[in-house]
Amino acid sequence: MKALVLAGGSGTRLRPFSYSMPKQLIPIANTPVLEYVVRNILDLGVNEIGIIINDRDNEIQRALGDGSQFGAQLTYIRQENPLGLAHTVAIAQDFLADDDFVMYLGDNMLPDGISDIAEEFTARRPAAHIVVCKVEDPCAFGVAELGPDGEVLRLVEKPKQPRSDLALIGVYFFTAAIHEAIAAITPSARGELEITDAIQWLVTNGADVRASDYQGYWKDTGKVADVLACNARILDGLHPGVHGTVDATSVLVGPVVVEKGARIVRSRIEGPAIIGAGTVVEDSHIGLHTSVGRDCAVTNSRLERSIVLEGASVTGVQGLHSSLVGRSASVGTTTQSTDRYRLVVGDHTQVEVAA
Ligand code: G1P
Repeated sequence: MKALVLAGGSGTRLRPFSYSMPKQLIPIANTPVLEYVVRNILDLGVNEIGIIINDRDNEIQRALGDGSQFGAQLTYIRQENPLGLAHTVAIAQDFLADDDFVMYLGDNMLPDGISDIAEEFTARRPAAHIVVCKVEDPCAFGVAELGPDGEVLRLVEKPKQPRSDLALIGVYFFTAAIHEAIAAITPSARGELEITDAIQWLVTNGADVRASDYQGYWKDTGKVADVLACNARILDGLHPGVHGTVDATSVLVGPVVVEKGARIVRSRIEGPAIIGAGTVVEDSHIGLHTSVGRDCAVTNSRLERSIVLEGASVTGVQGLHSSLVGRSASVGTTTQSTDRYRLVVGDHTQVEVAA
């Protein structure tokens, strides 16, 4: 079996971050989402992994390299335009050849793994094996209707009137039968070749298409609220460890990771929380479910349930919560009059201040 990981796309729901970085590299507990994806695939014993990246992207290649540090063999495949999930399979055909493969959306987090479903697929080898999960807002996903034995009866991409609450999650197993289906479908109303339509084509043409109900934790990290929720979930499983320095007046409560070269000075950290390599936290209070990336400076501040990305600084801000602070951003206070704010805010940024 091979794997095809989709790490292209424009990430419109994750602006402004996706303007400057691929959304698949957003860190969860200081590790990019895409690294969790690659590790889950390696856990299946699959190490030939094709990664679809968009035409302008070199950052993913810089982050993952040739994969040898993970024991993976990565092949990068460029998609010039975001023409749909099924289109990525079409352009990866040389890489995939006639092998079975798992297609994995690079912004989907499944920390409990997908080994059981891979085993079901390998035992039966249906043309397609999808994974579904009950959701509250099926309109935002591909939606499946299933028969009593897990057979797929119908699939619709982002239906206005969903006929079930079972969303397709971003992991699909295929045999080479999918290539004929993709060649047969036409672009959807949004101009994309939908993988959902290709799988529906298989169903319509009598192929064996199966589904498994996913019992583990799943999050599509397409939106900021989902990134924060997923960060909290992953931090809940954190193994504490202090690899940096914590001065005598600082207190760590609960599971806290202090990465190499980080310094905690006159501060209180309430875990689960992680402080990135080279970061300095001074005279601050870091509350639970917070990840601070590498080389940040948090000074005289109080924050919780937040993610601060590499190189950012937070200075003199009390009560920052549920926030995502971008790379090398600075959040601070003014020494001037207290009833004014000065903001340099990027496109599609969201700022909330006290009313
Ligand atoms: C894609 C798929 C959709 C699936 C979802 C899971 O949607 O098209 O069927 O339910 O991923 O994350 P997108 O996130 O690209 O809108």
